Amino acid sequence: MAQITEVASDLFRITTFVEPFNLQFSQFLLRDEEPLLFHTGPRALFPGVKEAVASLIDLQQLRWIGFSHFESDECGTLPEWQTVAPQSMAVCSMVGKLVSVDDCLALRPAKGMTDGEVLQTGKYRFRFLATPHVPHCWEAALLFEETHRTLLCSDLFHQGGDGEPVTQSEVIGRCRKVLTEYQQGPLANYMPYCTLTEPTLKRLAALKPKTLATMHGSVYVGDGAQALHDLAGVFREVFVPPGSPSTISV
Ligand SMILES: [Fe+2]
Ligand SMILES: [Fe+2]
Repeated sequence: MAQITEVASDLFRITTFVEPFNLQFSQFLLRDEEPLLFHTGPRALFPGVKEAVASLIDLQQLRWIGFSHFESDECGTLPEWQTVAPQSMAVCSMVGKLVSVDDCLALRPAKGMTDGEVLQTGKYRFRFLATPHVPHCWEAALLFEETHRTLLCSDLFHQGGDGEPVTQSEVIGRCRKVLTEYQQGPLANYMPYCTLTEPTLKRLAALKPKTLATMHGSVYVGDGAQALHDLAGVFREVFVPPGSPSTISV
C-alpha cells in the first residue's frame, strides 16, 4: 500500500515511490463531508492508492476528483475512481472540461470551474485558481485550501528521490537539481517559461501558503511565498536560454 501521511488537518498525502523513475507520486485526500482526491495517480499505482484511500474514507463517499492538468499522473485513473465511487465528479478548469476531460476521460460530465470560484467540501473550502501553462498545459489549475493555507501545487516544487513526507527545510535546491538534470535528457523543457509564468507564481505567492503540497517530492511547510519567489528564479535560471531578453522579475 502507498504511504499515508497527514500533512495538514484532514489532508492526507498518499505516496508511492517509483524506483525506475527515482520519483515519488503523491495524491492528496481531503477527508470532509464531501471528500476530495487531488491527482488520481497513473494506472499502475491505482490498486495501492485505492487501498490507501479506502483505509481513510468509505470509497463510495468520494465526491470530488480534482487535478491540475490532463496527464496520466494527474487524472489517468479518473474512470476507475468514478467506477468505485458512483457519486464522484471530476473537478477541473473549464478549459480542461471543454477541451479534453468530458470527451476523452470522465464517465460523467466534469465540474468545470473558473478562476477564483470556491469549492466547499464541508468545513473546508478550496479557492480554484486557473493557472494556464503553470506548471504546464493550457488547462492547468491549482487548488488553495483556505483554512490551513495549503496550496495543492501539482508539479510545482518537483523533487527527485524518495524524500521525507514533510520538510521544513528548503526544497528549492532539490527542485533546481532535478530540473537541471531533466534538461539534459528526454524530459527537457518539462515546463514552459512564458509570459504567464512569473505573474502566476507571483499571484500564488501573494496567497502566502503555509504548506506546499507537491505531487513529486516532500511537502514543504514554511514560508510558501518566499519559496514561490525562489521557484520563479529557478525557472528563469533553468528554462530561459542564456542571452534571452530579460523578463519581468517578481
Ligand atoms: Fe504534469
Ligand atoms: Fe506530475
